[in-house]
Amino acid sequence: MQYGHFSEDRMEYIITRPDTPKPWFNYLFNNSYHALISQTGGGFSYYKDPKFYRFSRYDHLSTDRPGRYCFIRDTKTKDAWSINWQPVRKKLQSWQCRHGLGYTTINAKNKGISSELSYIVTLKDPAELWKVKLTNNSKTKRRLKLFPMLELICGDVALEIHYKNILMLYNQANFNKKLKAIVAFKHTFIAGKDFGFGFMATDQEIENFDTVRDAFWGPYNDCGIPLAVSNGKCSNSECRGEEMLSALEIDVELEVGESKEIVLVTGYAEKQADIEKLIDKYGSVKKFDAELGKIKKHWKAEVERLYVKTPDDDFNTMVNIWGKYQLFAITHWRGTSHYHGVEGGLGYRDTAQDAEGLFSQDAKLAKEKLEKILYYQYNCGHAVSGFSDIEGTWEKMGQAGLVMKADVAVWLPYAVVSYLKETGDFDYLDKVVPFHDGGEATVYEHVLRAIRYLFSAVGKHGLPLIGKADWNDAYDAVGIKGKGESIWLGMALCRACKQVAELADYIGDSHIADEMMKMYEKMRKAVNKAGWDGDWYLAAFNDEGLKIGSKQNKEGKVPLNSQTWAILSDVVTKERLPKILRKIDKYLDTDFGPALFLPSYTSYNPGIGRVTAFAEGTKENAAVFSHACAFKIVSDCTLKRAKEAFDTYKKLCPMNKAKHDHEKYKVEPYVWSEYVVGPGSKHRFGEGAFTWNTGTSPWMFTAATEWILGVRREFKGLLIDPCIPSKWKECFIRRPFRGAVYEVTIKNPKGSTHGVKIVLVDGKVQTSNLIIPH
Ligand code: GLC
Repeated sequence: MQYGHFSEDRMEYIITRPDTPKPWFNYLFNNSYHALISQTGGGFSYYKDPKFYRFSRYDHLSTDRPGRYCFIRDTKTKDAWSINWQPVRKKLQSWQCRHGLGYTTINAKNKGISSELSYIVTLKDPAELWKVKLTNNSKTKRRLKLFPMLELICGDVALEIHYKNILMLYNQANFNKKLKAIVAFKHTFIAGKDFGFGFMATDQEIENFDTVRDAFWGPYNDCGIPLAVSNGKCSNSECRGEEMLSALEIDVELEVGESKEIVLVTGYAEKQADIEKLIDKYGSVKKFDAELGKIKKHWKAEVERLYVKTPDDDFNTMVNIWGKYQLFAITHWRGTSHYHGVEGGLGYRDTAQDAEGLFSQDAKLAKEKLEKILYYQYNCGHAVSGFSDIEGTWEKMGQAGLVMKADVAVWLPYAVVSYLKETGDFDYLDKVVPFHDGGEATVYEHVLRAIRYLFSAVGKHGLPLIGKADWNDAYDAVGIKGKGESIWLGMALCRACKQVAELADYIGDSHIADEMMKMYEKMRKAVNKAGWDGDWYLAAFNDEGLKIGSKQNKEGKVPLNSQTWAILSDVVTKERLPKILRKIDKYLDTDFGPALFLPSYTSYNPGIGRVTAFAEGTKENAAVFSHACAFKIVSDCTLKRAKEAFDTYKKLCPMNKAKHDHEKYKVEPYVWSEYVVGPGSKHRFGEGAFTWNTGTSPWMFTAATEWILGVRREFKGLLIDPCIPSKWKECFIRRPFRGAVYEVTIKNPKGSTHGVKIVLVDGKVQTSNLIIPH
């Protein structure tokens, strides 16, 4: 069963039924405001941080309620419905939702009234704009009432969930006559913490309003027609100490054939005084249309900036449009802004990877993220697990289970090296940047400290201590007593040492290059000695010295990351390589891509951690974990295994054939999902989960552009080294690089998969496939 399809140019995903198997979201965002919006307007918005300044309320992914609703009531017939379909869920004459880059539009027809409801988040301000267009297609004049509404939190959502009885006592919401707007806020209840103001305004005259949730809905009602709508009248309720909402009542009279447009400006402001400015700036149809025009222009430019054209439409769509849009969305808002969560802040390792993925498309934004991860490093070289600009680090916030991720520091050298390769800005190495716990050092020193720290924190086998996690957050009990070691982190460290050795060589620092290569050799030996299990590499040793991922275990064998990173880190020996490739290709692979390991764990093992308690085949418990599959694609390209790389890429694509049954795959078929349920689950194998917020996005972007198309940044310049399907006779990539734009056409008349015969730049034959900018 299909629930939607792409528009012809693939810039929109058109959802044709409102009752998709799971809510299908769009992310509307700028760098201070983010609205998660499902096909029916469900989801929530926040300012700056998904926890602290949560604007609107969202209860359940399973009900996808509440949301940004617009109810209509016919004054004469008393018929009422919602343009959104939700929460009433009555059949409408027709309904459709289009998710585009920067906007979502719902069209519905009912009882002779056509309606179009569009949502955007402005490019620069913390404001969300709605435009409702109503057209009378019936044969009589119609008198309608429109009731736009939004339930509100206006503050710390985690506290709200824990102590609702208390938290609502701080609530206040009123209709501000001068602004013609509802203004809602929580009274300050912690010294020094102001939660800001939510608001909703319209360009129309308002008949009545409600700000008390129960007054609008009526008791025991959250999925029917609200009481105020069935009464045809809001009650002008003013909220103090109750649950809040903003609901407006607007009269709309329509002659036969007539249309009317109504604009709502809603959003969040730290100071009440800012609200007026936002309403002035955006509160008319003309201003809405102008802003939407700017948004479309903005995204068109982003689509075209780094642009590919290959014979594969799905590949092109993910690189140019949806995967790229997802990458921007999560670079701003990843980590904790997912539709299930109430956490705040951004993960350290996630932010580092997002920045790396974005360098080629938007070096400026990516650099801002890089500066954050430099700053959130400690003097000793280790780094925090995550951080919120408002509330500080995750460690400080004391969030259970989030501290002591042993691997975080390893992502810093990769990000710095990628930045240098992208920009050629080697002076950056001398920039002095503070450490989070005081003191400061050059960027170069930050990088070296990260590596030296990881190299020093090793266990009995000479491998890095794993603490509460390595890349795999769910190995959270492997090393809690301070003895467990990570084989994967040993490899990741080798990769960092090699990259920094290459950098040191390039800048003529032979002393550091030597130090790095010595560390690399030592760690490589340790990994190959203790980490090899006979046919594949292990994942870890736990505190008791038990092997994880071994043939001695019944479950959790052949950890994918330890095989792919053995390749990425250049740790695997020649003799061992065929063995691990056989395991990746034959043992782990499925129709959706390779599983994280197999078989899944079936019962809790306190010596490993929460991974063993997750349902079989889900998340880190042997799902097809898309992020890890992206590592696998890059490792394939490293070995010039073009077919294997592309096969996996295609299997992962959300619109892939195996996922065409939307009822089975369930989640959005236009963005990367964090994982697909693995074969360990008999009934749910093939179901997608946790879309949008995933490190798959940066890695897939890099895999596609730098590795499959192979137009890759290096210290000296741009390398042309494609690793493509043999049937691609020609493909193209436009790649901005160090102030120039390279338009690279790859011609492949003989159906090769790799190996460059000749490179021409502006018609001139080059001596190598490394293009050096001058
Ligand atoms: C999630 C986290 C990421 C972690 C992965 C595996 O995707 O965001 O940081 O590496 O899970 O646990």
